[in-house]
Amino acid sequence: MLNIAVMVSGGGTNLQAVIDAIEAGRIHDARITRVISNKKDAYALERAGKAGIEAVAVSRADYGTRDEFDKALLRALDEAAPDLVVLAGFLVVLSPEIISRYRGHMINIHPSLIPSFCGEGYYGLKVHEEALKRGVKVTGATVHFVDEGCDTGPIIMQKAVEVEPGDTPETLQRRVMEQAEWKILPETIDRIARGLIKLES
Ligand code: GAR
Repeated sequence: MLNIAVMVSGGGTNLQAVIDAIEAGRIHDARITRVISNKKDAYALERAGKAGIEAVAVSRADYGTRDEFDKALLRALDEAAPDLVVLAGFLVVLSPEIISRYRGHMINIHPSLIPSFCGEGYYGLKVHEEALKRGVKVTGATVHFVDEGCDTGPIIMQKAVEVEPGDTPETLQRRVMEQAEWKILPETIDRIARGLIKLES
């Protein structure tokens, strides 16, 4: 059984896609043991609660220094003892200590075809705004392992999505989620759970 910790910051639609895929048997032999949010009011926490998953908030505001916050995040992860950490719309840059502890066991979903529209400052809606500004005709989503860089880790899966005339950042974001993110994130986790993608031991 693959024990998963999911880290979130917002609405949690990717978390929901993983919960649904586990319930529907599209992800085999895996369970989410803890959801960690850096925002106390993230709707993702409610989604976890509804699914009977332990949900904890670790908010920067509750810690005097960034270092104390980083240590609290690491503790929240370690307590869950996950085999796999999934960053599903987690918008905090993780400390080198957390990354080195979970290197090879941590994946992230990013809403573009890396190496386009990624790196520092590219997150959430901003990614789609920039894609539309540049006038690309195809965008998509990427699941990758997390390393010390920002969106630089080894790519696991990508899926392309067409940009349509008249798209706004919001319509494009929704299409990328529906057609790419909510598919490739559960699919990657299923492949990991089945041992088709190896985690570093
Ligand atoms: C998703 O589009 C995810 O790819 C993106 O934030 C959104 C979270 O939505 N992540 C990043 O931009 C990371 N750089 P959700 O909370 O509904 O899953």
